[in-house]
Parts: sequence; C-alpha cells; structure tokens
Amino acid sequence: MKDIILSGLRPTGRLHIGNYLGSLKNFLKLQDQYECYFFIADLHSLNEPFDPKTKYSQIMDLAADYIALGIDPKKCVIFAQSHVHEHSEFAVILSNIIPVPYLFRMTQYKDKSEDKTRESVNAGLLYYPVLMASDILMYKSTLVPVGQDQTQHVELARDVALMFNKNFGETFPLPKSLYTESSKIMSLLLPDKKMSKSLGDAHCIYIDDDPKDIEKKLARAVTDTGSGKSSGAKNLLDLVKIFGKPDVYNTFLSDKSLGIVKYSEVKKVLSRDIAEYFADFRKKKKKLMENPKHLEDILERGAKIARLIAQNTMEEVKKKVGLTR
Ligand code: TRP
Repeated sequence: MKDIILSGLRPTGRLHIGNYLGSLKNFLKLQDQYECYFFIADLHSLNEPFDPKTKYSQIMDLAADYIALGIDPKKCVIFAQSHVHEHSEFAVILSNIIPVPYLFRMTQYKDKSEDKTRESVNAGLLYYPVLMASDILMYKSTLVPVGQDQTQHVELARDVALMFNKNFGETFPLPKSLYTESSKIMSLLLPDKKMSKSLGDAHCIYIDDDPKDIEKKLARAVTDTGSGKSSGAKNLLDLVKIFGKPDVYNTFLSDKSLGIVKYSEVKKVLSRDIAEYFADFRKKKKKLMENPKHLEDILERGAKIARLIAQNTMEEVKKKVGLTR
C-alpha cells in the first residue's frame, strides 16, 4: 500500500526558522515522493485568543508561505480546513467514539489549560485532537509529519481509527507520525528555551524577515565570552551548520577559532547567509501577497480536490455507522 501524507499548520502569525526547519522543509521533500495533503488548520486556530480582523490575513499569509517556499499545488493538495466542511462533520461523528478521559490526558491540553481559569478553557481546546483525528483519517493518511509536541495527538488518531474499525468494520489504515531529525532551534535571547513567537519578536528570526532585521536580531543574540559551551553559542553553531556556507562553518568549527573568531563576525556572515537562503522565498511571497485573488484560487482548487475525497469518506462513514444505507 502506498503511503498517504497529511499535515497542517495553524495560521497564527509569522513563521520563524524553527517552524520552517521543523515542518515545511520536510513537506518539500515529501511532496516529490508521496501523495500529500498540506492544509491550513484554520478551524484549529480558533481555540486560542485571536483577532477576527486579522484571522483571514493570517490564513492567506500561511498559504503564501507554503507556496513561496515551494510547496507546489501541482504536486500536492493545498487547502484550508474550513473550506472542506466534511472535516467538522466527521469530527462530530468521531467525538462519539473517543472516551472523554483520553482527551483530558493530552499533555498539550494540560499545558495550555494549566495557567487559565476553568471558565476560560474553551471546549475547542479539549476537542482539538478529535478534529485532528478527523483531518488525518479523512484522507486515509498513513504518515503524519509532525513535531514531538503533536505525536500524542497522532497516537490518539490511531486509537480512534482502531476503535472505528472495531465498531463499524475495517475502514481506516492506522496513521503513524513521521519524524524527521532536525535541530531544535532556540530563542536568540533565552537560548535555553525553544524559539517561539510567544516569547517576542526579538527572540525569533522570521522566514520573511528583512535582511536588516535578521542582522539586528542576530547581533543581539546571547552567546558567551568565547568558551563556546553555552547554549547560545551552540544555537549559533547549529544555525551556522544549517544555513552557513562551508567556509564559515569550517572556521567556526575548528578549535583554534574559539576566541579568535569573534561571535560578532560569525553573526554578521550568518545573517547574510540566512537572508540569502530565504531571498527567493521573500520575493515570491511578496508577489503572491500582491495578488490575493490568485492565492484564493489556488486554495479553492485544492479544496475542490480535497472535497471529492472527503465526500467519499463521509459517504462510507455514514453508511458504516448506519446514518444512510
Ligand atoms: N495540531 C497541529 C499543530 O498545532 C496542526 C494540525 C491540525 C495537524 N490537524 C492536523 C497536524 C493533522 C498534522 C495532522 O501544529
């Protein structure tokens, strides 16, 4: 059986290089080898505080990111989750086979609800993995490229598939998460923490940052006095390994360079290399953002294909659970 890949990101604002390395960079490779569905998890993004005035532009921004990075609508199906209504309908059906304690057990739910008052934890946050199971099973996906923080959700989708098959007859293949080793990129200012938008802009390098901003932010990145052993220096080294040209890499790596090569020099070259790495992407994204109609057409075309498959699955599901005959 040929594997089917599905993954999505929530449209919640700009992507940083950690997001890129952790997911989108892998999507690019996968699209050449597999049948792939890459979607924008817009419904998922509503369970955290958001501004309705900017939500639509966040969706378009993420669509532009996907396409400008090279995720190709000719090679894979790109769509927005809310454009394929079957995701929500399927999630309602699936919610009846998931025991509630399974949901309360999810670590992401625990983490995200921990510091909130009981009243402000919305049901969507708890229900999140049900909707995610619906996304995954809808296309009978077998491999789900996700970061570590999402594996528990993929395991839940697998449990749901097992339960569905047991109750209603063999229907879904069992999905597995697909890891790709990638270095964990840390915050520029607090290098013991993962790079995250929630820490603030100065902690992150965004993939669409201007070269000047990259240089400014990297210049302020925390390192050490030359021991090379701090987490900040290690983070810098990781970035050099990923984005740097081999000559910089070699100088920085040779022991002799420690204390000789100044971090400030490394940062300057590295910021140029990162800016160059994303130069083509920035150009393409700018062009895409200038023509929202074109982007909307791409998403609509993707949704059309996704809907065909989703409708098939729903027909099968409704028959199996006895809603239709
Ligand atoms: N939960 C994922 C995230 O927060 C997004 C997502 C929604 C997803 N549905 C999915 C990822 C299905 C993989 C498969 O990043």
